[in-house]
Parts: sequence; structure tokens; C-alpha cells
Amino acid sequence: MDGGEELKEHIPFIDLQAQRRRLGTPLEAAIKAAVEGGQWILGPQVGELERALAVWAGVKHAVACANGTDAILLILRAWEVGPGDAVFVPAFTFAATAEVVVLAGATPVFVDVLPDTFNVDPTSLIAAIALVRGEGKLKAKVVMPVDLFGQPADYHTLSPIAEREGLKLLCDTAQGFGGLLDGKRAGAIGDAAATSFFPAKPLGCYGDGGACFTNDHNLKEALLSLRMHGQGSDRYEHVRIGYNSRLDTIQAAILIEKLKIFDDEIRERNSVAKRYNEAFAGSNRLVTPRVIDGATSTWAQYTIKVDNRTKFQADLKAAGIPTAVYYPIPLSGQKAYGHYPSVPTPVSEELSKRVVSLPMHPYLDAPTQKRIIDAVLSSTG
Ligand SMILES: Cc1ncc(COP(=O)(O)O)c(C=O)c1O
Repeated sequence: MDGGEELKEHIPFIDLQAQRRRLGTPLEAAIKAAVEGGQWILGPQVGELERALAVWAGVKHAVACANGTDAILLILRAWEVGPGDAVFVPAFTFAATAEVVVLAGATPVFVDVLPDTFNVDPTSLIAAIALVRGEGKLKAKVVMPVDLFGQPADYHTLSPIAEREGLKLLCDTAQGFGGLLDGKRAGAIGDAAATSFFPAKPLGCYGDGGACFTNDHNLKEALLSLRMHGQGSDRYEHVRIGYNSRLDTIQAAILIEKLKIFDDEIRERNSVAKRYNEAFAGSNRLVTPRVIDGATSTWAQYTIKVDNRTKFQADLKAAGIPTAVYYPIPLSGQKAYGHYPSVPTPVSEELSKRVVSLPMHPYLDAPTQKRIIDAVLSSTG
């Protein structure tokens, strides 16, 4: 996801400058302190952030790293997932979810998603596991649902499937960190979770960043080693092949300040989503997203389904309103991924033709949102 282009439009797609104004002097002081402190990589603020994230998410360990893609990769590598292993991923997600599986040497197996929540369809997952076991070429190892657009996947159903099938559950919560399911934070669900602090994410920094979450002490130790070139007990002792995947101290300092207002921002995002939902409830020309029982979304995106997306986007553009399409091609249909195993993914294919995301951020005031709503209803009405 990248809000960059949309920021040029009259109404911003994501208003990060409004957030910066709110954070004000304490944010600037935190950045200055990080620069003056002189430990610019993995400085003390990184440890402070890791502790704050773990407490906030309700999980024992948070390990910060260079970006969300690495966060998933580090977990897969720490679990020694590799050649011959199957990792079940949704077909309708950002490429990084499947990319890291290939980078780890394993095989992504594509699973379809549900039409109303956009998250992994448990029935399709069961079919994909049966496909892999039936063919007998790969060993089913990990299920990696994605908390797409900010909503936790249906772990009520997915967690028991993973447990019954003896698979690890790795939550790609790059878009969903901070969401809740039955009072449990995304980040604290599954055997491990990974998030991204890319600027446009609900909790984003001013560059790249990411984090892994787990209650497993041994996994945490392996992650700390992997992010620092596979180091052992000493910096120049190497016990495994690792990565350079460290978080900058400035980014940690920024995230510490942003985490203080994150609860409030999630509340505001939910108010914005509620206003959209209520305004669109009567329309039979567009479909609003469904949130499952017991879940709170962080609304990384507010994504509707429309019939004539090209016209819809042109109409909104003419009204000065940016829109974005996440994602126009399912991974199972991409040149780079089309040859990997997949069960049928008709829902992902249909969604990729119909979904469109509207401006969504905590600082979207009601009058501005009314302009967006009016333009949406006038285009679809
Ligand atoms: C679902 C999903 N997974 C993984 C990532 C990767 O995160 P990053 O961009 O920080 O590497 C993203 C980010 O766009 C994402 O949306």
C-alpha cells in the first residue's frame, strides 16, 4: 500500500501531516534525542519500543526489524521452514505475504478468501491442505492468514483448523496490528505474528520498519539472532545464516510517540468507518465490508465493492477524491506466482475486479467525509 500518489489530490487519501501536527513538540523532541544519542541503529529506544509494543499487544515478546516483509521472513526462517514445506497464504493479499515464503525456500499454496470480509476462507483452507496432503509432494507446515484492510482474519475458525492439522499459525498482521478479536489484540494471536510500520499503515513510522510478536522465548532468541546476521552469544560469533534487518533508533523514537495515541486513532478510524457504513447502508449499488462478530478492525483501508470500477474511480477523481485499488490481480494470477499450487480462487478473482478503497484516516472530519459520501452515492446512484 502506498498513499504517495494520492497525497497530491485535493482530499488526501491518508492525512499523515494532520497526525504529525497533533504529535507536535514531543515528537520533534523524541527525534532530536534519538539523533543526539548517537546510537542510530538498535539504540535504547528500540528496546523501549519493543517492551511498549509487547505490553500494548498483550504478548510476551516483540522483536523489531527493518520492515514488515522481513518480519514474516525472520519468523519463517526461525521455524526452519524451507524447501519441501508448504505455507498456506491467501490469494488476495499484498505480494510480500507469498514472496517471503519463496525467499525462505518453501512453497506458497494459495487459498481463496471470503467475499464479505476479504480474509481467508476456512473451507478453502481445508481444501488446500487436502490438496497438498493428497499430492504428497510437500509437507504442510504453516498457515499464514492476513488481517486484510485491518480486520483480524476469522481465527475463531482458522486457529482450530491449524491446531487439528498440526500447522503453525503465523498471522500477517501488517495491516491489522492493533485490531481485536474477542478482546485479544492482533499481534497476540497465533504462534507468531508480524507487522509493518510502513508510513501508510495504521501504526507507521517515517521510513521502513517492522516487528515480530510471540510468546515463545526460543523463537524470540532466534529472531534476535537472525536480524543481526545470525549472531550467537557474541557479535562476531555466527550460529546461523541471518540478515541485516535492524530498526533505526529514530523510527523507534517516532513509534513510541505514535503508540501513545494509537488507541485513540483506532477509535477515530472506527467512527469514520461507521459514518461510511451508515451512509451506504441503503445503497444496493455498492457493498460495504463486513466485520465478523467479536472483531474490531483498525481500518487500514475502507474497501467497498462496486460494479463499474473504472467509471466510479473517474467520477470520484473528477470530484477531487482519490481512490485506490488493493489489489487488482490476485497473487494466484500473477506472472511471478501463477505456477505455485492453488485451489480455485474465484472470490479473489472477482474481488480484484470490484474492490475500491476510499480515503480513510483518523483525521477525516465529518464535513470532508460528507463530500466523499455524496460523490460515492452520486456515482453509484
Ligand atoms: C499484507 C502485507 N504483508 C506484508 C507487508 C510488508 O510490509 P513492508 O512493506 O513493511 O515490508 C505489507 C505491506 O505493505 C502488507 O500489506
